[in-house]
Amino acid sequence: MVHQSTDTYMGDNGRQLSMYLSDLVTPATVIDRPRLLRNIERMSVKAALNDVSLRPHIKTHKCLEIVHLQQKYGAKGFTVSTLAEARVLTGNGFEDLILAVPLALGWIPTAVEIASESNLKVLVDSQDVVRALHSACRENDIQLKVMMKVDCGYHRCGVDPESPKSIDIAQEIVDSPYLGFEGILTHAGHSYYTKDSSDIQRVASQEQHVMIDFARRLTNKSSDLTPETVSIGSTPTMMYDAPIKEGITEIRPGSYVFFDYHQLAIGSCKSRDCALTVLSSVLGNYNTHIVVDAGATALSKDRGPVHLYPDCGYGRIFTDYNNGAIAQDTLIEGLSQEHGTVLVGNTSPLRKAQVGHKVRILPNHSCLTANLSDSYYVAEGEEIVDTWLVRSERELTNINDRQSNSETSDSDSAHLSDT
Ligand SMILES: Cc1ncc(COP(=O)(O)O)c(C=O)c1O
Repeated sequence: MVHQSTDTYMGDNGRQLSMYLSDLVTPATVIDRPRLLRNIERMSVKAALNDVSLRPHIKTHKCLEIVHLQQKYGAKGFTVSTLAEARVLTGNGFEDLILAVPLALGWIPTAVEIASESNLKVLVDSQDVVRALHSACRENDIQLKVMMKVDCGYHRCGVDPESPKSIDIAQEIVDSPYLGFEGILTHAGHSYYTKDSSDIQRVASQEQHVMIDFARRLTNKSSDLTPETVSIGSTPTMMYDAPIKEGITEIRPGSYVFFDYHQLAIGSCKSRDCALTVLSSVLGNYNTHIVVDAGATALSKDRGPVHLYPDCGYGRIFTDYNNGAIAQDTLIEGLSQEHGTVLVGNTSPLRKAQVGHKVRILPNHSCLTANLSDSYYVAEGEEIVDTWLVRSERELTNINDRQSNSETSDSDSAHLSDT
């Protein structure tokens, strides 16, 4: 989604003219600054009260202005999910990073290159990657810090903390003169599928217990295996209001800066905490449905909290953003590329919405929505006070690699095309 350039609202003398939400060309991704600040501050208080380091995940926002705010409010380092994010941060003086996705073999050369100029720690959950990393670091004669990913019950990836193999992997990291064993890391992604607060409490406590027990097992095996960092974090488990247990050293929440409809549905936030919305215009009213100009390219097609509300659609529409009121009897039923189809029941406040009427949509998944945008409009109330870039660069090295690979494998492709 390409936003209107900031230049378009500079006056002749170069002074910025006042601009309001109602002036924006839609669809437009809007951040409410007071809510953003409140969310950032609340998480920093949680980290400080529990005496754990705060290492926010920047994949949610990919925005340097927000990184600066998180640093101002106590972030000790940052979590990234791509090497491109790592490059943006290191290029702007943020050096203490964890790449919190298990490293793909093809990422190793770039990870090693970035780590040689920063304090980038990488994540592993297999011996294959540990061995490949060891070889790459030996070739480059550098030392790389490695975290081990642990499965605390989400069952997406990570080592099984009960299996002997998990200890073997840690031992192999420790045994390499080129790798440093920094610690263990988990993400309780299954917290997103919880049904109520007791369910979140169960997952939050499982996340911590699994990690504390595993850290103890490692230490009991050998003091060399003692993890310096024991890192946990998902927004739902961090928003659950219980103390973080001793033994956990770091938290890595991401979505807490914006929240979204999924977080609202599972009880991680209130509607008045939701800081990111997509401003959209009504394109047509067809009686039982209206069409808005926010489609899949503006909102993403994340299905949201379907485990709770199978027919929740693709987000919710605020009727009164300031008071957190959400339109009832109104369902964003379908998204095509640039259209959103909204069913408006008899009692929907949008039943009579006219062409050009603007709505603020709370997306199902703010991280995916934010990633579709090239910039944010930053609002205080109705006024636009700033625009911030979304740094969603891709890792260009891959393209260069592909080009050089295709040059060297011309004969291979000729062979393949023959068959
Ligand atoms: C490894 C890891 N750490 C931290 C996070 C942040 O989680 P959340 O956005 O729920 O705060 C994620 C999110 O996917 C993740 O995958």
